[in-house]
Amino acid sequence: MNLTEILLNRRSIRRYKDEPIPEEALRGVLTSGLLAPTSRNLKPCRFTVVREKTTLEALSHAKAAGGAFLREAGAAVVVSADAEKADTWVEDGSIALTCMHLAAAEAGLGSCWIQIHLRRDREGGEAEENVRRILGLEEQFRTVGILALGVPAESPEPHRPEEADFGQVRFIG
Ligand SMILES: Cc1cc2nc3c(=O)[nH]c(=O)nc-3n(C[C@H](O)[C@H](O)[C@H](O)COP(=O)(O)O)c2cc1C
Repeated sequence: MNLTEILLNRRSIRRYKDEPIPEEALRGVLTSGLLAPTSRNLKPCRFTVVREKTTLEALSHAKAAGGAFLREAGAAVVVSADAEKADTWVEDGSIALTCMHLAAAEAGLGSCWIQIHLRRDREGGEAEENVRRILGLEEQFRTVGILALGVPAESPEPHRPEEADFGQVRFIG
């Protein structure tokens, strides 16, 4: 697939087969995150790969809604960034997460972004603090989100260029 095909075929996949993720494919996804652009090239991101079922289950409860499917995933890549190193930790983490989502699509893996930063759990606690506790992250690391990954068990239709809403675009001159 060329980049345009990946951009159209990429969908958020939330159902996964109970099969391991091929090691080489996972490495390719992580390589895309590690090589993603960062402000001032500071590279503040840390990627925590979780494959253990009990930890995936714990992370699936880190926020109140929108993350339950993580317990069925083959792996999670938790994207955190050192906020003391870079004030652009949200941007740097988000770009890395997006690059890995696209790389996963190219590798034939299903993946979906799970928002953590700014979200709360069922008791009103911060999702970020739950992730910090589960993974034992140091205080300066802020978690942008989690990429749930797996061998896809659903195949939604690719996007079509005609769906693009040019009403969102304003041309000046
Ligand atoms: C910043 C961001 C946060 C997201 N958070 C979640 C989430 O917490 N749970 C979820 O199921 N999907 C999440 N998604 C996926 C979106 O719901 C999805 O991209 C959108 O519905 C469009 O579907 P598509 O990706 O298949 O085109 C998130 C996407 C982005 C970009």
